Amino acid sequence: MSPKNEVRPSTKKRIAVIPGDGIGKEVIPQAVNVMQATGAALEFTEFDWGADRYLRDGTTVPANGFAMLARDFDAILVGAFGDPRVKTNIHAKEILLGMRFKMDLYANVRPVRLLDAALCPLKNVEPKDVDFVVLRENTEGVYTDAGGVFKQGTPDEIATQEDINTRKGVERIIRYAFDYCRSHKKLDGSPRNKVLMCDKSNAMTHAGGLWQRVFKEISGEYGDIMAQHMYVDALCLQMVRDPRQFDVIVTNNMFGDIITDLAAALQGGLGVAASGNIHPRHTSMFEPVHGSAPPIAGKNIANPFGAILTAAMMLRHLGFTREPDKIEATVLEAVRQKKTTQDIGGTMGTKEAGEWVAEKVRLSS
Ligand code: NAI
Ligand code: MG
Repeated sequence: MSPKNEVRPSTKKRIAVIPGDGIGKEVIPQAVNVMQATGAALEFTEFDWGADRYLRDGTTVPANGFAMLARDFDAILVGAFGDPRVKTNIHAKEILLGMRFKMDLYANVRPVRLLDAALCPLKNVEPKDVDFVVLRENTEGVYTDAGGVFKQGTPDEIATQEDINTRKGVERIIRYAFDYCRSHKKLDGSPRNKVLMCDKSNAMTHAGGLWQRVFKEISGEYGDIMAQHMYVDALCLQMVRDPRQFDVIVTNNMFGDIITDLAAALQGGLGVAASGNIHPRHTSMFEPVHGSAPPIAGKNIANPFGAILTAAMMLRHLGFTREPDKIEATVLEAVRQKKTTQDIGGTMGTKEAGEWVAEKVRLSS
């Protein structure tokens, strides 16, 4: 067969891009632009899932949408979902929680890194002092929507919200945390060596008991890693008092949701926080931690760095190293030079800050 007729599978990594709602539609194009500037072999396909589509034709997720994403793509980049015109938030729930639950993306990975001392609200804290990661269980807990309401609207109304914790679910996220600790270094190149499990087992004895038992068992398999425990309320206090002590934190869905907003404040706010929703053997999804921020949407003021750092995280997950290194270094330079949006001290717009990073990356690629 002549080379002309050969059908070769694409060597490009295929990325599904779902900007979603609000500022998602502003920050995601900047992230895509920066990835393109690296020259990496990537192929982007954009999807219009979100509030506009839902209001137009009632579709949240098209038929077989998740199966299509899993089959046809190597990774998914998402913006945010949430629009005041959709009061029920049904589209956000079906798209975002649908992806997490139906694609079984059980590890929500949220690195917490301070890029520059000026961004931290705490006194005398340097970038080296804030470099930890929160691994949030992403498929169970109180987010499964199990529960119900009884005698609604009467004085006797009862509402229950079940906290679902399976042995399998707890075990795999805890194991993921120990494996992550072994395989990921800190920014300064030193190895990670501590996994802290955070729960509320003193009050939530049944679910907490399972987490305690599984953590004890699995930590025994990783003799080289220090196993620690903290109640979630104490952890909030310690995170503000002395963030230096944290390395890898593993916790359930709700506590992970809450403590990562607190953690985001330590690194300069929601505008710079990145995350991945990962199953090691499935197509995984990456999104900035922030939501759709309706009050600032469409004004070209949203910080694109959370989305850009999320793109770097996605590229690293796909096996690239040079490109994410370059993106992260350039964002750091932008922060130092105040080539940023207002929320972190600059005067640039979303587009201008994103383009500054893309241009630097392009020049050095
Ligand atoms: P949010 O993250 O959208 O905003 C919280 C605060 O941070 C606001 O003051 C906002 O202006 C600011 N902020 C967020 N991202 C920023 C950025 N890139 N640059 C500068 N400032 C930024 O959270 P909020 O207000 O609780 O929710 C707004 C909508 O987003 C709701 O519909 C909510 O359900 C949805 N949401 C969606 C998420 C997702 O898609 N993963 C996550 C969180 C909220
Ligand atoms: Mg949250």
